[in-house]
Amino acid sequence: MDFKGKNAMVTGGAQGLGLECVRRLADAGARVVIVDLNREAGERAAAALRDQGSKALALGCDVADSAAVAAMVADATAAWGGIDVLINSAGVSCPRDFLDTREEDMDLLYRINIKGTFLPSQQVARHMVQTQRGGSIVNISSVQAVVATEHAAYGMSKAAVGGLTRSMAMSLAPHRIRVNAVGAGTMKTPMLQAGIATNPAMEQALLARTPLGRFAEPSEMANVACFLASEEASFMTGQTVYVDGGRLAQNFSVPALRPA
Ligand SMILES: NC(=O)c1ccc[n+]([C@@H]2O[C@H](COP(=O)([O-])OP(=O)(O)OC[C@H]3O[C@@H](n4cnc5c(N)ncnc54)[C@H](O)[C@@H]3O)[C@@H](O)[C@H]2O)c1
Repeated sequence: MDFKGKNAMVTGGAQGLGLECVRRLADAGARVVIVDLNREAGERAAAALRDQGSKALALGCDVADSAAVAAMVADATAAWGGIDVLINSAGVSCPRDFLDTREEDMDLLYRINIKGTFLPSQQVARHMVQTQRGGSIVNISSVQAVVATEHAAYGMSKAAVGGLTRSMAMSLAPHRIRVNAVGAGTMKTPMLQAGIATNPAMEQALLARTPLGRFAEPSEMANVACFLASEEASFMTGQTVYVDGGRLAQNFSVPALRPA
């Protein structure tokens, strides 16, 4: 993959999958913009990339705040002269059973996972359309968009990302902007560590549903996200590619996480 001469923005780029995408894009020659609520972690990541000779900028931003996103995109385009690639990796989980899910959980997951994908995409796409530069947008969905756990708010939010991806692809195709998503299986990031810390049984339950018998390294997910963002995926748009260690293909599995 070659991103030389391209400017790439990654939301949630300070850690986990987002940070792996940032590293992959920078290694392939892109100028990168790390967007994250955690500005300090973003700054540290950008400084490490600059030390290695890459061009990297960190911007603090809540991706679900429309005014903040508009200002962030204006800053990023002013700094690098435009955006060619956007990867929307910012997201949160909510490991709460449907019966216990609160209205505020639904609001939070709607706000960050859905609106926080929509707003940067719309702002960046408007810029791409205005400058007639084309481009590529990659959203991060989950296997939970199509197979269920009891965690209703999260599954709902990731199913919505799939719908948003398809609509964006239709709207933006005439402008040479492709939009795809990665449907991630379970990967070793701080989000997973936090989930397992509060529910240790979850680790075995997840592995029992993963034919490859292990969790993904974030780099394995970033490889596919960056492929979708690259010219090598030039005829792909509107797709969600599931990178799940075989989970969706599996028929038999061990029942997981049922109350006694
Ligand atoms: N870890 C998994 O197993 C897994 C599986 C499927 C899908 N995903 C999805 O992958 C994406 C990345 O997850 P991860 O595991 O790297 O998570 P993570 O918690 O390790 O990293 C998420 C990053 O997003 C940032 N962020 C959160 N809210 C934000 C906001 N409002 N504005 C800006 N930045 C914000 C955080 O500060 C953090 O740096 C998420 O969309 C997640 O839902 C993760």
